[in-house]
Amino acid sequence: MSSSVSLRGYRPADETAAIELWRRTWQHAYPAIDFSARLAWWQARWRGELVGRARVRVAEIDNDLVGFVTVDRNGYVDQIVVAPEAWGSGVANALIAEAKRLSPSGLKLHVNVDNARAIGFYRKHGFTAAGNDFNPHSGAPVLIMRWHETESDDPSPAGPAGGG
Ligand SMILES: CC(C)(COP(=O)(O)OP(=O)(O)OC[C@H]1O[C@@H](n2cnc3c(N)ncnc32)[C@H](O)[C@@H]1OP(=O)(O)O)[C@@H](O)C(=O)NCCC(=O)NCCS
Repeated sequence: MSSSVSLRGYRPADETAAIELWRRTWQHAYPAIDFSARLAWWQARWRGELVGRARVRVAEIDNDLVGFVTVDRNGYVDQIVVAPEAWGSGVANALIAEAKRLSPSGLKLHVNVDNARAIGFYRKHGFTAAGNDFNPHSGAPVLIMRWHETESDDPSPAGPAGGG
């Protein structure tokens, strides 16, 4: 991908593109799950729990929405999503750097223990494992990961808690 990424704040007009990006990205990551069947649930969650409560930044390449990140006032990252065709391109790096800029004292998130790519991504950006939990929606086991400003952003090898 040769064009550069730009970041900006979320606008209401982004909703359709953001929700479709969520659907197709998670469908790519978990092909066995029917994310289209979850769209109404997700739209309600997007409107009711994320937009308005969290700061949402979107990433664009050539005016196409290719990613977004949500960061609430407690530094909780509920969502970071990058279009599959932009994986490995640096878009996700830009979004997590923006999340750190929005919450410089620290970030926290939950990630599915079988989401090895995301865990590798977070470790690369200085996040460390901070416990285990279960997703309240799906019941899936999740890893709690945290980043603090004092921790290095240097890549570190994934340990056994990384889930793969
Ligand atoms: C998570 C996400 C935003 C990361 O963006 P990305 O562009 O894929 O991330 P990057 O390519 O920069 O980094 C992924 C790293 O994990 C590594 N990786 C890939 N597959 C891996 C695996 N199976 N096990 C361990 N590490 C893996 C990659 O090599 C890369 O590290 P490197 O740059 O040192 O090579 C993106 O993959 C995504 O949108 N996934 C679907 C939604 C999601 O899972 N969101 C997070 C939920 S908590």
